[in-house]
Amino acid sequence: MLKETSARVCGARSMLIIGELVPSVTDGLVQAGWQVLRKKLEEVSVALCQQASVGLLRVTSVDVVECRRLLLSCSTSHIRWIALLDGAELEDSRVRALVNDFCFDYCVLPVPLAHLLPAVGHAHGMAGLCCPERVRSGVSGLLGEHPAFLAFLEDLSRVGMMNVSVLLHGETGTGKELAARFVHDCSARAKAPFFSVNCGSLAPNLVQSELFGNEKGAFTGAHDKRAGYIEAADGGTLFLDEIGDMSAEAQVSMLRFLQEGTIIRLGGSKHLKIDARIVAATHVDLAQSIRDRTFREDLYHRLRVCQVCIPPLRERLSDLPLLAGHFIEKYACKFGLPEKRLSKEALGLMLTYPWPGNVRELENRICQGLIMARGCVLTPADMGFGGAEQGSSPLQVQRGTGEKTSLLQSLAINGGDCNLAAREIGVSRATFYRLLAKHGISPRQFRKDLS
Ligand SMILES: Nc1ncnc2c1ncn2[C@@H]1O[C@H](COP(=O)(O)OP(=O)(O)OP(=O)(O)O)[C@@H](O)[C@H]1O
Ligand SMILES: [Mg+2]
Repeated sequence: MLKETSARVCGARSMLIIGELVPSVTDGLVQAGWQVLRKKLEEVSVALCQQASVGLLRVTSVDVVECRRLLLSCSTSHIRWIALLDGAELEDSRVRALVNDFCFDYCVLPVPLAHLLPAVGHAHGMAGLCCPERVRSGVSGLLGEHPAFLAFLEDLSRVGMMNVSVLLHGETGTGKELAARFVHDCSARAKAPFFSVNCGSLAPNLVQSELFGNEKGAFTGAHDKRAGYIEAADGGTLFLDEIGDMSAEAQVSMLRFLQEGTIIRLGGSKHLKIDARIVAATHVDLAQSIRDRTFREDLYHRLRVCQVCIPPLRERLSDLPLLAGHFIEKYACKFGLPEKRLSKEALGLMLTYPWPGNVRELENRICQGLIMARGCVLTPADMGFGGAEQGSSPLQVQRGTGEKTSLLQSLAINGGDCNLAAREIGVSRATFYRLLAKHGISPRQFRKDLS
């Protein structure tokens, strides 16, 4: 059994063989110093792929879809894939696309050991270039290597491959939207549309028509019939963000859609059959919302066929340097600035900070730091840490006693601009609007351009 360490990717020559390979070739690989693990396609997991530098994958026209799903879901690992095929299989455009999209190389069977050894050696060398040991999703941009995060990714790729509704639960800024994309990308629907709707930001009088569409004349201003988001996502995936904010009326229609797979456009009577997969996300405890009678229990059970929880950043702080490095690279490139590094003091502080805004807050602080830093080092002050944050955050300290004050101050400082104000306190726009509604605050009163 391969040991669980991603250092293997750079060091020991570990190989995963998926599917049959003639015993003499396998023996030859072992004799050449390869640590070989053989698995069937259905036995392979993301975690397994983290442990090998090279994967030999037997691809046939029959299981090409399964192979694609596997390679998609394992795109978070460093493993370099070499496809093993019969020559005739290259006639199949799906096989060619798979090799082209995911594989480092391919070999036509029967492959002699003398031919395979240089190919796997080269693939191993290329995998080693990916060090330091970071795990990156080539598909959805989810970064992380903490065991809790890897377990979450593995759960996500498992449910992603199944055609079921998924409920994502995570605090603000943990990456729910990225996770929903990942689920879509892992699925057989990957090439079909993916739409994302924030249920909290839909105007109450428009929710029904936005989600389910409308017929001509359904309401004043409905000059034409229009498809809603569910119809638009036919064949693909619809991501319903902040599902806890969905109106009672829309919940009823959504339940019918999940039960029957049909919708009725607003103002219409015809049942339209739609095949859209629903991935929903929430940061609130829906069980509590059910007790509060603001969320339907029957809908909850339909949505959470599979539930996946995203770990907050404070529970995977060992990922912080990796994420910070990624955001420094991203924003230095975006703004044409030289790459800078975190000061020791900044890193120390960040490793004890509870990150209420999670990865989004980290991203925003790094972005701010890169812009503000005078030299080549990001200090705590550059990133907006005032000194009182250790062990708590501006928003968290004030939560309960001063959440409203924090919102009012950020709006006042930013002239009513919700984007800037949300960024200032380290929450997403969606969360910011939710908090405004909770406290009954209107940003209009802070806009200087209004008399
Ligand atoms: N694991 C991660 N790796 C890289 N970037 C991440 C990761 N998680 C989140 N991000 C980044 O953090 C930001 C917030 O992510 P996202 O919008 O998916 O979070 P969210 O949970 O939907 O937040 P909210 O509840 O506030 O809407 C995005 O810019 C995203 O790219
Ligand atoms: Mg979101």
